Amino acid sequence: MRHVLFLHLLGASVWVGGHLVLLFSVLPGALRGRDVQPVRAFEQLYERVGIPALLLQIVTGVWLAGQWLPHSQWFDGSPIAHLIQAKLLLLGFTALLGVHARLALIPKLNAQRLPQLGVHIVLITLTAMAFVWVGAGFRFGGLF
Ligand code: HEM
Repeated sequence: MRHVLFLHLLGASVWVGGHLVLLFSVLPGALRGRDVQPVRAFEQLYERVGIPALLLQIVTGVWLAGQWLPHSQWFDGSPIAHLIQAKLLLLGFTALLGVHARLALIPKLNAQRLPQLGVHIVLITLTAMAFVWVGAGFRFGGLF
């Protein structure tokens, strides 16, 4: 249990940290220089740790959720079930943003579309932070 939580926190650090660096360090430079290259370069480097980190979050998260509640109670109305549902909802939103970026944004990325990518990066970073907020809720028994 402790080791799985450790891995979950490690993956969370990579996922949230990487997106904060992208949002606050890489994106402003790209917008200022009207150049997509820094974003592309970062994505290429980050992908190698970011994607495994997200997969790790899913595997460890589902396992941890199973420790809190048996799967059959995940969709009940209890406060812990609501937290699990919130995690799954955020995961769905992350997947949608990922697919949209891969299929619609990245292939046609140019300087004019950079602000659009910026909105996307803000949304994925907020979603990553929301994962952490909901995660902290398990210890305190609710979302707020
Ligand atoms: C990028 C995605 C995710 C991030 C950044 C993230 C982050 C976190 C953080 C920071 C905690 C707090 C741990 C603590 O209590 O000390 C947590 C807890 C938790 N997360 Fe996630 N999480 C992610 C995805 C998921 C997913 C997909 C699930 C699956 C439903 C999940 C299930 C849980 C559970 C059950 C806990 C409570 C662990 C415990 O304290 O026993 N997480 N998460």
